[in-house]
Amino acid sequence: METKSPANPELVFSLRRVTESAAMAAFSWIGRGDGQDAGRAALDAMRAALADVDIDAVVAIGEATKGEAPQPERGERFGHKSASFKADIAVDPVEGTSYLVRGQTNALAVLAVAPRGTMLNPGPAFYMEKFVASAPARGKIDPRWPVEKKLTTLAEVLGKDVFELTVFVLEKPRHRDLVNRIIQTGARVALYPAGDVAGALMAAIPGSGIDALMGTGGTPEGIMSACAIRALGGEFLARLDPQLQTEAKAVKEAGIDTSKWYERDEIIASDNVFFCATGITTGLMLEGVERTRTHYKVQTMMITGATGERQILTSYMPSERLASIAARDVA
Ligand code: FBP
Repeated sequence: METKSPANPELVFSLRRVTESAAMAAFSWIGRGDGQDAGRAALDAMRAALADVDIDAVVAIGEATKGEAPQPERGERFGHKSASFKADIAVDPVEGTSYLVRGQTNALAVLAVAPRGTMLNPGPAFYMEKFVASAPARGKIDPRWPVEKKLTTLAEVLGKDVFELTVFVLEKPRHRDLVNRIIQTGARVALYPAGDVAGALMAAIPGSGIDALMGTGGTPEGIMSACAIRALGGEFLARLDPQLQTEAKAVKEAGIDTSKWYERDEIIASDNVFFCATGITTGLMLEGVERTRTHYKVQTMMITGATGERQILTSYMPSERLASIAARDVA
C-alpha cells in the first residue's frame, strides 16, 4: 500500500546524479573484462551519491544471486532515515555488464524510485516474462493469447500492418520458438544479447523503431522498466518465469503462481515514480560516457511519473569535482 509521502517532482534531478555517478565510475572498465570490479565501483558510486539525496529509500528488489555483478541486498537502506519521502528503490548500477566488459554498446546505469510499498515483491524470482508496448496497447492485449493474435491486435491498435512491427527479444536459446513465431507473422525481430531495460523503454516510446518487447528477462530490470513505463503511459504485463533450478524450487516453495500475469499497476502501484538511466556505453537510447582531460560528458534519461515528463539531459562535469568517485585512474 502506498505511504502518504510527499515527493517533489524535482527529486529526479538529484536522482540523476546517482546514475551519472555510477556510469562515470564504470567508465574505466569499458572493454576491460572484469564485470565484478565494474559493478562494485558503480554500486559504491551509487551508494555515495544517494547519501546526498533527500530520500529514505529501501531496496525493494535486489539481484543478489542472479547476476555476476554485485548488487545491493533487498532491504538495504539508502539516503536518510529522517527524509520525509519514504520510498522503495531498485537499482542496477550496470545494466548490461557483458556489454560493458566487451566494450559493446548499450550498457546503462539505472534506478527507479517509488513510494514505499508500491513495487511488486517478486519473492525469490529472478526472471519474468514480459510484454511491453506503447500507450495505445493499454488494456487491448491479453498476454495469454498466442503470439500471432497479440501481434495482429498490436498492429491494429498502432494503426500499422503486422509487417511494419519490430519486436525486441533477448537473444537467448529460451526464445527460439518465440522468435520463429514472430517472424512467421511477418513482423521483424530486433535481437539483442542483453539489455531489456532499453528494449522495454523503446517499446513504450512511439517512434523509437521498436513496437513491442516480448520474452523473459530479469525481474529487477522488469520492475524498474515498469516504473518508467507507467510514467510514460505504456503497457507492461509480466509473469514470474523462473529459469534456474534453484530459483524454480524457491518459487515453488514460496507458493508463487507462475501462471499469473500481473497488470502494470500491480507491478508498480503508484503514478508517483522516478526513473533515471545514464548511458555507460553508447546505445539505442543514450550516448555513453565520454572523458576528456578536463570533463566527463554523460547523458541521462529522466522520467517523472507525477508530471509525465521525459527528459534527456547531457551534462558536462569538470573531472576535478569527481575526485570522490571510486574509479581507477587510467588516464
Ligand atoms: P546484467 O545487468 O546482469 O548484465 O543483465 C543484463 C540482462 O540482459 C538484462 O537486461 C536482462 O533482463 C537479463 O540480463 C536477462 O538475464 P539472462 O542474461 O541471465 O538471461
